[in-house]
Amino acid sequence: MSDATTRPGGPGRRILVTRCLPPGGTEPVSGHSLVGPKPDDAPYSHDELVALAGEVDAIVCLLTDRIDAEVLAADAGRLRVVANVAVGYENIDLRAAAEHGVMVCNTPGVLDETTADLAFLLILTASRLASTAESDLRGGRWKGWGINEHLGADVHGATLGIVGYGRIGRAVARRAEGFEMRTLHHARHDTGEPRYVADLDDLLTEADIVSIHVPGGQQTHHLIDSRRISLIGATGVLVNTSRGSVVNESALAEALHDGSLFAAGLDVFEREPEIHPRLLSAPRTVLLPHIGSASLATRTRMATMACAAVATALDGGIPENLVPPPSE
Ligand code: GLV
Repeated sequence: MSDATTRPGGPGRRILVTRCLPPGGTEPVSGHSLVGPKPDDAPYSHDELVALAGEVDAIVCLLTDRIDAEVLAADAGRLRVVANVAVGYENIDLRAAAEHGVMVCNTPGVLDETTADLAFLLILTASRLASTAESDLRGGRWKGWGINEHLGADVHGATLGIVGYGRIGRAVARRAEGFEMRTLHHARHDTGEPRYVADLDDLLTEADIVSIHVPGGQQTHHLIDSRRISLIGATGVLVNTSRGSVVNESALAEALHDGSLFAAGLDVFEREPEIHPRLLSAPRTVLLPHIGSASLATRTRMATMACAAVATALDGGIPENLVPPPSE
């Protein structure tokens, strides 16, 4: 196992930037030589990533780039740091990175408020059936004000169940206060804070609206399965802005079709950019193309943060946003 933190630093290193970043995003690494992105901003294939990884000191990548053991092994000791322009990093094999002495960095903190805004947008849009109502209007199906038309669920006064109480979950809780909601939260470890619910099933049963804020990966795969969807119930709303893998999509689609769940708002999917056909046809469902952090200011901050981490690592330092290597 080599140790990236002890390799010599210095300017003029080669950095692969896999995709076009927002303007100014690569400024922290402007003293180095940048490889990529492709002129048409097309993604690099896995084979191309493997080939390029051996020729660079750092990679700045997106969550759509798979940085697996093969890519990380290709470096022959040169690659020092991989910085993901995302807070999640399940596209990177942390174990292989540790084995090859490659630091992995992400972008925590800078996207919390923007992602919480989007979660709230989905809470409101799904609960009030705004997406269905708009599409009826645009599709010429609106015949005028109707007392029984598009009857959604109130957000104010509802109980919001927050699953995962990290920075984004807490930012959602703060917004909920302004809507006079009652909030409950569940996390793997007792937060010691008021309205912590130790048993996820209890939270799902009690909440009117459930918003998911746990990381992806094996530990949370299908955490929300068909049994748990049934606990949210026929008047309940499910919102997911974390990772698609946390919710069993086909179970969710069936619950929406058969009315055993009232509504859903999703920004993330199990096989992006593929969308489960039963979800596409599901009623009372808002589907967004993974835009949680998509404001210009936030995406620029994410890019700058990832590139600054690379600059620090290539300078021989330890970036603050270093992802800890896996413990076992
Ligand atoms: C977006 O989903 C991210 O992980 O930053």
